[in-house]
Amino acid sequence: MSRVNENFLKLPGSYLFSTIGKKVKEYQEANPDKRIIRLGIGDVTLPLPPAVITALHAATDEMSVQDTFRGYAPDLGYEFLRSAIAECDFRRRGVELSIDEIFVSDGAKSDSANIQELFSADARIAVCDPVYPVYVDSNVMAGRTGTYDIASGRWSNVIYMPCTAQNDFVPELPEQVPDVIYLCFPNNPTGAALTKEQLQRWVDYANEKKAVIIFDAAYEAYISREEVPHSIYECAGAKTCAIELRSFSKNAGFTGTRLAYTVVPKELVLDGVALNGLWARRHGTKFNGAPYIIQKAGEAVYSEEGQKQVAEMVGYYMNNAKVIYDGLKAAGYTVSGGVDSPYIWLKTPKDMGSWDFFDYLLSQANVVGTPGAGFGPSGEGYFRLTAFGSYENTVEAIERIGRLS
Ligand code: MLT
Repeated sequence: MSRVNENFLKLPGSYLFSTIGKKVKEYQEANPDKRIIRLGIGDVTLPLPPAVITALHAATDEMSVQDTFRGYAPDLGYEFLRSAIAECDFRRRGVELSIDEIFVSDGAKSDSANIQELFSADARIAVCDPVYPVYVDSNVMAGRTGTYDIASGRWSNVIYMPCTAQNDFVPELPEQVPDVIYLCFPNNPTGAALTKEQLQRWVDYANEKKAVIIFDAAYEAYISREEVPHSIYECAGAKTCAIELRSFSKNAGFTGTRLAYTVVPKELVLDGVALNGLWARRHGTKFNGAPYIIQKAGEAVYSEEGQKQVAEMVGYYMNNAKVIYDGLKAAGYTVSGGVDSPYIWLKTPKDMGSWDFFDYLLSQANVVGTPGAGFGPSGEGYFRLTAFGSYENTVEAIERIGRLS
């Protein structure tokens, strides 16, 4: 008799953003006259940059002609895209990568969920708390997290690294030694960023302990401060201990178009085995390549016009971030993030619980955000707003919230 993978039964009933979506839908159905402003999920709202659209059209036309039609894409990605990535995202920042170290995929969410397959079933993972839920949930599904304690909101076999106001939302090196360390910087959800010096400490620690860092750099385009590195490979020694995840979603608006890549350096070796070869094997077995049309669109992001247009998009969202940050501060909120990140992290007023504040904001201001508690126990008492809305909606949402105080 077949049996289900019982690890799935340990998970909360639905994924954080599905729970929020359901609550908002119910509210809207009960209050059809209310105009809800959504600053919850970090989904972009601006259309794709013109350079990307032109590339999409051209690639679509190629697919209509016998001579230029393409079937399966190479498992690891087309060379034209991997070369553009190596040149623009790395070489220009002083990091040399061979294209064999770059694996193109259909999204950083899938990559961040799948990457745990490289590690042993008993690998001990460390995560920031609060954390992007995918890192933990994917390890729960793999049976790596132990049992869940409802009172603390923690899994027994996971090492939590609290990111709180006391440490400026920058995690301390853990006391217990992990095998795999998930770091997302600029951070989702707190919006905090690590300086190169701070990140170097993690790289040194991982090399010393023979741990692997999964560095999620999905928000690197939002970095504004000089001292914040865009890639972990800007730190000395990172190639022997770190995997980096990148996305086209947040910089170039590909949330609905799906394109990302993962860097697994050849120097990253565990138990005498290069992870690069394992990831290539996994990719080849489970993935048939991101579509040609989408990879051509990704290549266009690195063109001169593409880079200019992407910078304008990021600037637009960062202006929203400033509107949120300044507006909430003026309304008396304690706020952080929003400087190297599209996320603003605020303390809920009057020690309100995160989910209570969610309900309060939805019903009183018709504004949707994300409760900090949804990202982990240290997120309780906090709330996340995203800068990915339209400027007009962002201004209105902040005015509505301001009127509540
Ligand atoms: C978020 O809101 O945290 C992001 O949209 C999640 C994601 O990128 O998958």
